[in-house]
Amino acid sequence: MPAPQPGTRVQTLRWRDGRLEMIDQRLLPTRLEYRKAESAADVAQAIRTMVIRGAPAIGCAAAFGVALAARELRGGPSEEFDSGMESAFSLLAASRPTAVNLFWALRRMRALWEHAREQPAGDIAEMLLDEAHAVLAEDIGINRALGNHGAQLLASGCRVLTHCNAGALATAGHGTALGVIRSAVQEGKQVSVIANETRPILQGARLTAWEMVQEGIAVTLITDAMSGHLMSQGEIDAVIVGADRVAANGDVANKIGTYMLAVLAQRHGIPFYVACPLSSIDRQAADGSEIPIEERPAEEVLGFGDTRWAPTGVRVRNPAFDVTPAKLVTALITERGVVHNPDSRKIAELFS
Ligand code: MRU
Repeated sequence: MPAPQPGTRVQTLRWRDGRLEMIDQRLLPTRLEYRKAESAADVAQAIRTMVIRGAPAIGCAAAFGVALAARELRGGPSEEFDSGMESAFSLLAASRPTAVNLFWALRRMRALWEHAREQPAGDIAEMLLDEAHAVLAEDIGINRALGNHGAQLLASGCRVLTHCNAGALATAGHGTALGVIRSAVQEGKQVSVIANETRPILQGARLTAWEMVQEGIAVTLITDAMSGHLMSQGEIDAVIVGADRVAANGDVANKIGTYMLAVLAQRHGIPFYVACPLSSIDRQAADGSEIPIEERPAEEVLGFGDTRWAPTGVRVRNPAFDVTPAKLVTALITERGVVHNPDSRKIAELFS
């Protein structure tokens, strides 16, 4: 397992020498390598193939994808600038459907572009790059803010179950669900993490476990099917997950298996928390039924890496996300504070 650079935190994505560099999350935990993106097409491909994943991180990458497109087009004929930019926006928007942060970031970049349209292409490109840097920096601040709010919900000694990876790797830094845990630990609380492995891509086993081990936060890995048993044995005090998209009524789309955890948590009287920035809330989606759920390739379920364990010819379903009804969510943890028993009215108030 690669060691972190002393005194530094994982930089999920960074701008270096006119290119976007992203940790190739498909290789963790055995290799820590950055993958370079020089164009919007490279960024879209990195999102689609899950070099980079996690809702806020996808949004940050897309913002840099737009900036890369403008930089590439700025030296060319001016009449091609607008059509080239439109193609870049379309390409990025088609990379993955569920995490709304992608569309949030693209809207933000588009608004700036439209505002600056009359300016020289070189200036527009610089402005878009500055904006992408702002999206990245803000994301870290937001995660620290929501982490501090969420930490107040955790007592010292608590054992927190989490699913997928909603950590530094899923964001520009600090993380959302893991950000709450990090903030609680920074406050001096003893918190231990139980990480669901998260079939089929194993974000829990590969990424959450890696982040926690690196920081010396106590972590125990389990397979997804063990969660109910541990809850029934009184070994879980709280569940905290991230979100890919929260509907206006508080329904939450997150990694497949989240719904199962929320039902189990309710059955056992365990609080079920969702930590996410406001950019993960889609006020255009009235409820969870309006959230598009990505269906990923069958190969991810048939095996892993070079190993295949299922017979040829078997049919496969591979929805990457599920929807947890708002009624099962004890509280939504955001940068503006904690919303207990979220519903349409309380979510609307968050934006007022
Ligand atoms: O398919 P992924 O790995 O992109 O799914 C990620 C998740 O479901 C996370 O829980 C979610 O994006 C929140 S990340 C802060």
